Amino acid sequence: MIYKLTYESNAKTPFDTNGVNEILASARNHNKSMNITGCLVYHNGSFVQILEGEREQVRSLFKVIKKDPRHSKVRLVSEELDDERSFSDWNMAYFDPGVHSLSKSDLQNFEKNILMLADFSDKLSTTVNMFWLNVRKIILNLKIA
Ligand SMILES: Cc1cc2nc3c(=O)[nH]c(=O)nc-3n(C[C@H](O)[C@H](O)[C@H](O)COP(=O)(O)O)c2cc1C
Repeated sequence: MIYKLTYESNAKTPFDTNGVNEILASARNHNKSMNITGCLVYHNGSFVQILEGEREQVRSLFKVIKKDPRHSKVRLVSEELDDERSFSDWNMAYFDPGVHSLSKSDLQNFEKNILMLADFSDKLSTTVNMFWLNVRKIILNLKIA
């Protein structure tokens, strides 16, 4: 069984590409060695991340991430045991709308692409659905309770 966990958090200060790259560098090395896959989204001062892998390893990584001073208000959104991974090819996928200085139409394109990706995701997993719901929320700036 694959354990999946989705959380949401607020960045302490607005992140630039370097800041996010630092997180990704440690995430990619570390996650690969622990066979943890997932996806991290940063947008407008909020993070949403889904982690999937062996239960105890995901939980211990989440403990480390929770204490990271670069973000606060870490909220566990959803966790579950599932039959298979949803992000098997990505040790840590990442979407960064701030990589290039974005025009309004670039941003709209990014939003459209990520929402399309959300539609392709496995509808059967609550945790994956909650991940994409929260991605939509931060991207569309919606207040979903
Ligand atoms: C939003 C956010 C997401 C993170 N995701 C991961 C992750 O998936 N894997 C990981 O190893 N570290 C992640 N980190 C970093 C950890 O909190 C911690 O800094 C890191 O594991 C320490 O590894 P290092 O000693 O190689 O820098 C994340 C940090 C933040 C703020």
